[in-house]
Amino acid sequence: MHLRCVACDARHEPDPLLYQCPRNGCGSPLEVLYDDAVFAKAPALEGEGVWRYQPLLPVKKAVTLGEGGTGLHRCERLGKILGVPELYIKNEGENPTGSFKDRGMTVGIALAQSVGSKAVACASTGNTSASMAAYAARAGLTALVLLPAGKVALGKLSQAVAHGAKIAQIEGDFDDAMKLVVELSTKERSVYLLNSINAYRLEGQKTLAFEVCEALGDAPDALVLPVGNAGNISAIWKGFQEWKRLGKIKRLPRMVGAQAENSAPVVKHLRDRSSPCVVDRPDTIATAIRIGRPVSWRKAVAAIVDSGGDAGAVSDEEILDAQRLLARAEGLFVEPASATPIALLRKFALKDVRRVVCVTTGHGLKDPDALHKAPVTMEKVKPNLDSLKRLLDA
Ligand code: F0G
Repeated sequence: MHLRCVACDARHEPDPLLYQCPRNGCGSPLEVLYDDAVFAKAPALEGEGVWRYQPLLPVKKAVTLGEGGTGLHRCERLGKILGVPELYIKNEGENPTGSFKDRGMTVGIALAQSVGSKAVACASTGNTSASMAAYAARAGLTALVLLPAGKVALGKLSQAVAHGAKIAQIEGDFDDAMKLVVELSTKERSVYLLNSINAYRLEGQKTLAFEVCEALGDAPDALVLPVGNAGNISAIWKGFQEWKRLGKIKRLPRMVGAQAENSAPVVKHLRDRSSPCVVDRPDTIATAIRIGRPVSWRKAVAAIVDSGGDAGAVSDEEILDAQRLLARAEGLFVEPASATPIALLRKFALKDVRRVVCVTTGHGLKDPDALHKAPVTMEKVKPNLDSLKRLLDA
C-alpha cells in the first residue's frame, strides 16, 4: 500500500498523518493505492455493511455503529416523472447518524486509534461533525468540531452537542473553518484530522459503490450525487474502479455531480477549465454543500471527466421542490442537499441512460427548518367528524 498525490503523482509511504502531498510544497490531497496482490484474487467478503469489504480497506475493523448496508430503493413512480426507465435511490440517511459520513468515519476513527491520537477534529457544514462526534464518543476520544456560525442545520448541531463534542462556531464560512483545521492538525500532530482531505477516511466511503454493484449485478449507467467538498464523488468513483479491477463488473458508470446554483465551483470549472474551482461567498438553503473551495476538486473533476459524466447546478427552489417530490412520490425524506440529484434529473434529462442510481446523502430530519421555508399549509380543525371529512375531501 502507498499514497499517491493526485496533482503531481508523487508516491509516499503509507502514513495516516500525511494529509497533503509534501513534495516541493505541492500540498494536494493524496489517495490510498493498494498493491497488485490485493486485486489478484477475489476478496473474502463476509457480513454486511462497510466492514464486509475489509480486504479492500486500509485497517481492520475497530469502532463500529453498524454503518453501510443502506437501502437501494427502486423508484418506479419517481422514475416515470423524471423519464428514467430504471431509477434507484441509495438512501444514505439510513446510516447510524443519518448520513453517508459514517462509512468514512468508522475507518477514520480506526486510523486515529492506530496512531494513538486522543483527539479528532474536523471542519464541517454539519454531517461530518455529527458523525465524528458519535464515533469519537464510541471510541472514547475527544472531538473538536469547527462549524460556520449560524449555518449548520439544527438536527446536525444537536447531534454534535449530544455526543459531547467541543464546538467552535467559526465567524466565517466552511472554507475558513477548513483552512484553520488543516493548520491545527498539521501543527498539532496529536489532533487527528477527519475531513475528507484524509485519504484513509475516503476509503470507507467507496464501499457505497461496492454495495450498489453487488445489488444490481453490475454498475448502473449513471450515478448522480450532490457535490460539496468533493470527497464523496471521488471516493465512490475509486470504488467502482476497484470493483472493475477485481473483475466483478464489466463497465463503469457515468459520474454526475449536482450542486446548488450559488455554490457550484465544480460546475463552473468544468464549463471553463481555465477558471479556478472556486466560488466566493457561496450560499444556498442546502447548507450541507454550501462550499466555495472544495478540497478534493481535482479528484472530483477527474471522476466526472474520466467517466464521461457531467455536473449541473440547481436553484434553492428546485431543490425544495425535489425534496417534496421525493418524499411524496416515494416515502423518502431527505435533507435539501440530498435532493439536488433529483432536482438535476428533473431539470436536465440525462441522455442514453436506462439504469440510474441517485445517492441521497442525509436524512430529512437533519434539517427540520428547511421545510418551513417552503409553503406549508396546516388546517386547524374542530374536533368533529364533519370537519375531518371536509379536510379529507379538500
Ligand atoms: N450531502 C450531504 C448531506 C453532506 O453533508 C455533504 C457534505 C455532501 C452531500 C457533499 O459531500 O463534501 O464529499 O462532496 N458535507 C460535509 C460536512 C462537507 O461537513 O458534513 P462531499
